[in-house]
Amino acid sequence: MPVYKVLIFTKISELQEFLAQIRANKKSIGFVPTMGALHPGHISLINTSKIVCNVTICSIFVNPTQFNDKNDLERYPKTPQIDIDLLKNAGCDAVFMPSAEEMYPVKDETLFDFGYLDKILEGKHRPGHFNGVAIVVSKFFNIVKPDQAFFGGKDYQQVMIIKALTKKLDLNIKIVVCPTLREKDGLAMSSRNTLLNAKEREVAKIIPKLMNQVLPLKEKGMQIEEIKAHIVSELNKRGNYELDYFAICDTETLKELNSFSEAKHHIALIACYVGKIRLIDNLLLS
Ligand code: PAF
Repeated sequence: MPVYKVLIFTKISELQEFLAQIRANKKSIGFVPTMGALHPGHISLINTSKIVCNVTICSIFVNPTQFNDKNDLERYPKTPQIDIDLLKNAGCDAVFMPSAEEMYPVKDETLFDFGYLDKILEGKHRPGHFNGVAIVVSKFFNIVKPDQAFFGGKDYQQVMIIKALTKKLDLNIKIVVCPTLREKDGLAMSSRNTLLNAKEREVAKIIPKLMNQVLPLKEKGMQIEEIKAHIVSELNKRGNYELDYFAICDTETLKELNSFSEAKHHIALIACYVGKIRLIDNLLLS
């Protein structure tokens, strides 16, 4: 496997000097923001960026402002050297790994309002989470000024927030959404999966299994309430789970549906704890 060089930046000013040269050479910039603990899902974002942009920049920053739970922030996996090696192998051009002081020299108290979008689903269960995401992504977009930015489809609501953010801030950045990559048993790839112990990892595979039942149940004519009851009862049969939400929503607005007839296209979304680890997943139904 060819191993490339990846430039490592920790200071905003140095990254911006490098980016100014790229822009002077009329090269397009692709940006992949991450919180590290990279897995093949992240690498697929890098690969997509490399196809459509001249230069690819990845950021690795475990953003404290988006964690509403201190323990979650503390236990978030950090594997910087492995991440750098993966980025080298993927042919990523540069990685930005700022410290918290570099990103937040003073406390950022910006408040974003995305209307109902940041108050439902993830927004409801993780208060302040999307405000923190919007703060850090707007800072990154301002620092990197990419032509295109790449995000995973697993974070469907986050992608909607980021699209709304770019619109709100009049940013000329194309948001590219890439498909969720899955483990062999269907579990959506996530940095948090590494925190599951062997037993929890074994039970976590029920999430994609149940999600895959939703479309056939819909096609059999089952109504949303009945599908929800089915998912909840299947989860209740197994221990070590705590469901935050299971919802079927309009793909366009993410408004929760009571009946399939209320929207043209539907998406099922789930968030649940396996032990102490919170996992999310979604599946487009039509
Ligand atoms: O999806 C993530 O990993 C994070 O929310 C992001 C977009 C890198 C912002 O910290």
